Amino acid sequence: MRTNESARKWTLHPAQWAFVESDARFSLYIGGVGAGKTFAGAAKSIVRVIEHPGALGLIGAPTYPMLRDAAQRTFFELLPRPLIAAYHKSEERLDLCNGSEVLFRSLDQPDRVRGLNLAWFWLDEAPLAGYYAWQVLKARLRQTGQPTAAWATGTPHGRDGYARDFEIKPRPGHALFRASTYDNARNLPPGFIAELGYTGAFAQQEILGLFVAFEGLVYSFDASPQGHLRSPGEGTQWTQVIGGVDWGYANPAVGLVFGIDDDGRAWQLAEWYQRRAALETVILPALLDLTRRYGVSAWYCGPDEPEHIAALAAALARERLPARALKADNSVRAGIQTVTRLLAPRGDGTRGLYVAPECVNTIAEYGAYHYASAPSNGTRDASEQPLKQNDHALDATRYALHTALGQARSVETYLEEMGRRASRGAGLRGGADGHVNGS
Ligand SMILES: Nc1ncnc2c1ncn2[C@@H]1O[C@H](COP(=O)(O)OP(=O)(O)OP(=O)(O)O)[C@@H](O)[C@H]1O
Ligand SMILES: [Mg+2]
Repeated sequence: MRTNESARKWTLHPAQWAFVESDARFSLYIGGVGAGKTFAGAAKSIVRVIEHPGALGLIGAPTYPMLRDAAQRTFFELLPRPLIAAYHKSEERLDLCNGSEVLFRSLDQPDRVRGLNLAWFWLDEAPLAGYYAWQVLKARLRQTGQPTAAWATGTPHGRDGYARDFEIKPRPGHALFRASTYDNARNLPPGFIAELGYTGAFAQQEILGLFVAFEGLVYSFDASPQGHLRSPGEGTQWTQVIGGVDWGYANPAVGLVFGIDDDGRAWQLAEWYQRRAALETVILPALLDLTRRYGVSAWYCGPDEPEHIAALAAALARERLPARALKADNSVRAGIQTVTRLLAPRGDGTRGLYVAPECVNTIAEYGAYHYASAPSNGTRDASEQPLKQNDHALDATRYALHTALGQARSVETYLEEMGRRASRGAGLRGGADGHVNGS
């Protein structure tokens, strides 16, 4: 683990200070993207570790990559090295010189932390981890002889249980601290907020850190184990494994993997989701890794970056992986219809599309991808398209599932594409895999 100079001289902005110094039993630092949430959570954990010798604490995040790459990494960067007695990597346990211990745990299966007796915990990206994870962890606060406390950090994800407990109907002992992305602008790359291009309710959530209820959601997605959250049984056989890719830089780049079973059901098995990732050194290696791990046979890629698709095809060939990189069909309305049809309950009560619970960013997008308005008189104008924000994993979903499973292009789709082309004054052109692509 690497430490740096900041271990001895970090300074906090006012919202971070208020959160770190708060003695509320439960505190939530909610904020926009890049608002310094993880930094604040790590700082509060370090203060706790120093002030409470002998305490057992836990640092958690929704998935293991989020834990390792954000919460744990920031904690170790800020932790003064002389405090460390031993770090047991295989157990993800840190012993401090004052007798404190810290466990690092991913919360993709919250029930796995049952049995622990903690003095404190910090849950990073808590709204993505879900309110249930917070409840399970709260019940673990019972180390004898220690005062107990917990704190969460993250960007809001709709008006959920955290919104209720900390703001709408605040529970006793619960304190809320809020920071916008602007509050941490001096620690962010120049132009960071403008590059995101967010507007409306989504900007209120992602930049201001407000709990927003989205109207006019595109998909009816039930983010519960009774609904669309489910992992396939061990050893499920797939008729094919496909992937969807949405390219991005200021906005996240996304790679999703779907197994298609012999009933034509799609199971989202994995997601890779990262902002400001370079193509050659980060995105392509991540896609190659997914290809190997899941046996992906075709990647359906956002058609807006043909040279990225060519680079992926070349990388797959270089690694001798039997997978193709294809330009996806980008018909928005027809693609949404394909995904909507898959999400709908079937006659036997099952769904045609399930998402593994650890795909937290995809799940968050289902809860926020929306039209500019609720439909008037219950019907939506056939030409209306959703707002182009918070759609990265859902574009990747549409690329994969509509291109591979969507019915043959309907007349409506064809007219939609022709209309878009005519409005750009562009001529007809064919796609790499025989589809006619819009962009
Ligand atoms: N008090 C501070 N002093 C110096 N740098 C800071 C401070 N707070 C945050 N930063 C830096 O600002 C950047 C964003 O901070 P951080 O990762 O904590 O934000 P975040 O809100 O968790 O972001 P995300 O929404 O991506 O999870 C990081 O580079 C971090 O090191
Ligand atoms: Mg963070």
